[in-house]
Amino acid sequence: MAKNIPLHLNVNNRDFDVTLDPRVTLLDVLREHLALTGTKKGCDQGQCGACTVHLDGERVLSCLTLAAQAHNRRVTTIEGVAKSDGTLHPVQASFLKHDAFQCGYCTPGQIMSAIACIKEGHTGSDGEIREYMSGNICRCGAYPHIVDAVKEAAEDIKRESV
Ligand code: FES
Ligand code: FES
Repeated sequence: MAKNIPLHLNVNNRDFDVTLDPRVTLLDVLREHLALTGTKKGCDQGQCGACTVHLDGERVLSCLTLAAQAHNRRVTTIEGVAKSDGTLHPVQASFLKHDAFQCGYCTPGQIMSAIACIKEGHTGSDGEIREYMSGNICRCGAYPHIVDAVKEAAEDIKRESV
């Protein structure tokens, strides 16, 4: 049995000190230790994207990231993207408006991925959005609506930042 290690995590601007088996993934520390269950586990081997979160502002698969790799770094999950007064992030609002989900299980990962996709500037066309959102699988087949939602959110964010 590996010896537990102390970790300092900053998740959604809150500080957490945990002592964990070094094998614990970022996905599992969020879900099992910090009770942030919005981040989902669809495969645990990097193939579905349901576990997408941001590490220092970049999208990563939390199932393939050890909690130890997030030590002293900034993690953002779906629970942290709305404003503190509850105002939805433009991507969340756009997903609702465009019905970009059904069961909702892939949705947190889709939204975290979409926020990063927009920030990366990969929203130049429907085709580009499809390509750069292709790391997130949706078994409910919401893809056309997801493209619409990402496109409109990208425009909203651009307008807000002018
Ligand atoms: S749970 Fe991480 S990619 Fe599927
Ligand atoms: S909304 Fe069900 S898997 Fe995407």
